[in-house]
Amino acid sequence: MPTINFILKDGTTRAVEAPIGQSVMEAAIRNNVRGIDAECGGSCSCATCHVYVDDAFLDKLPAPDDMEQELLDGVAAERRPGSRLSCQLPLSAELDGIVVSVPAQQA
Ligand code: FES
Repeated sequence: MPTINFILKDGTTRAVEAPIGQSVMEAAIRNNVRGIDAECGGSCSCATCHVYVDDAFLDKLPAPDDMEQELLDGVAAERRPGSRLSCQLPLSAELDGIVVSVPAQQA
């Protein structure tokens, strides 16, 4: 199973294993990773699952669709080049070891 390394707001890293096909958001929620709220449950309508993906993994992700782009414009924390909605990031073998940082705020 791929491992996701969440960098939490306090700077600590939390490593979580999750099955291929599960979203980064689902993995966070199932493992009680703090700082990812995911209020809409993954239907790409709340933007409270915002994360910053490490540069090394950005090219391995599907490009954000129009809906995700629109929501990313309204995230509570600063939008950066690595900003993505974690519910739109399905895990693949290629993403093993992905590093994502939790933003300072989600709402
Ligand atoms: S969980 Fe709501 S947009 Fe991702």
